[in-house]
Amino acid sequence: MNSLNQVCLRNTDTDQSWTLEAYESIGGYSAWRKILKEKTDPNLIIEQIKKSGLRGRGGAGFATGLKWSFVDRDNPTQKYLVCNSDEGEPGTCKDTLILTLNPHQLIEGIAICAYVMGATKAYNYLRGEFILHYKRCEAAIKEATEKNLLGADCLGSGVDIEIFNVLGAGSYIVGEETAMLESLEGKRGMPRYKPPFPAMHGLYGKPTTINNTETLASVPVILEKGADWFAELGTERSGGTKIFCISGHVNKPGVFEVPLGTPFKDLLEMAGGIRQGRKLKAVIPGGTSMKLINANDSLDMKMDYSDIASKGSALGSGGVIIMDDSTCMVQALCHMMRFYEEESCGQCTPCREGSGWVYGILKDMLAGKAKPGDVDELYRVAKNIEGRTICAFGEAISWPVTSFVDLFREEFEFIVANNGKSMVESKLPGANHLAFGWPAYEQRDKL
Ligand SMILES: Cc1cc2nc3c(=O)[nH]c(=O)nc-3n(C[C@H](O)[C@H](O)[C@H](O)COP(=O)(O)O)c2cc1C
Repeated sequence: MNSLNQVCLRNTDTDQSWTLEAYESIGGYSAWRKILKEKTDPNLIIEQIKKSGLRGRGGAGFATGLKWSFVDRDNPTQKYLVCNSDEGEPGTCKDTLILTLNPHQLIEGIAICAYVMGATKAYNYLRGEFILHYKRCEAAIKEATEKNLLGADCLGSGVDIEIFNVLGAGSYIVGEETAMLESLEGKRGMPRYKPPFPAMHGLYGKPTTINNTETLASVPVILEKGADWFAELGTERSGGTKIFCISGHVNKPGVFEVPLGTPFKDLLEMAGGIRQGRKLKAVIPGGTSMKLINANDSLDMKMDYSDIASKGSALGSGGVIIMDDSTCMVQALCHMMRFYEEESCGQCTPCREGSGWVYGILKDMLAGKAKPGDVDELYRVAKNIEGRTICAFGEAISWPVTSFVDLFREEFEFIVANNGKSMVESKLPGANHLAFGWPAYEQRDKL
């Protein structure tokens, strides 16, 4: 079994781990102090990050060192760094732990990245519900500023860095990086057309780097322990650890930081295995925007970007949702689409109309009101959203729907032909398929 919690969650056993004292007791801020003392050449830091194999942990897995090299730090204009702490993806609850239990490591990572970019201002954008997280990050910035690790002329180095925490207003779409920039500018959070990309034209039209919380929190450890150490933790093409959040039909749902490449089977074992001794039916490996993988394909799967891609899905944000054989796939997909219908920002017609259309067909299927041909209609509508929207929210509707139907079409056909009776229920009377879902929506729909 692989060892746990070596990077972003390395301090979670420490008492009052969110304080500066606790963080410094495990070597925290040593990378930042060294950089300030030696005035390290930013290009050397970028080289280390490239060598470490760190890839963005926000969903797309873009190579972090490469992203950092896009901003022209010699351009004398104001530059910005934005940390994406929105964490809106259903099934994902990893950044929440960094923000509450290890905020100083994130602050150190933000300071280092800002230094590399030549950015004197950085924003940590937290999702609207993250109140405790906001307070912890505010306290961390205050403590670090009092020690002059942040602020003007940090530790007498001539480097100025201010970090601001910003609370969102409770929206999924602002997790998309350009929607986040709009929101930071005080506008409605809706994605921008790209190009131009944020590295050229970001916050207030200035060069901007945007990274996820887990990505930035990994940086101090890479510089402390070395790029090779980090790279060797993971696989050939993706270095380090990843925090996986395991939910659904397991005995011990939880959050585990493990080396990339850890076998899926080991992860499942850490989560106590499938509940009630049932059988695995399918897995969503990276949050509900990603494609479904069936049980057979998942058994030899390794939790790393390329291996999951070879199974037709993606590692995404690391939200691993386990479904056992009592899951009605129509019901599960309907719950998911309820979320996406609610959260579409409405800017692009295929997403705005398609999300409601898809959800409507699924609701009709469950209510016994679907018509012959509705499975094809569902598939066609979802497929036509893909690639036709400004941001990847369109794929977050399209990919789950098409993969659910591709893998479990007979369940969709069955429910249409049997006036809303689910195939699973008819085989397993009383199966607790509703355990997978978003009860709050269920309750609100009844109002
Ligand atoms: C609809 C949508 C929602 C997203 N939500 C998040 C989020 O909550 N957190 C996050 O870090 N990235 C999110 N992303 C990805 C960001 O746009 C961006 O790729 C990421 O913050 C870049 O950081 P990284 O390179 O460190 O992964 C989302 C993307 C889309 C299309």
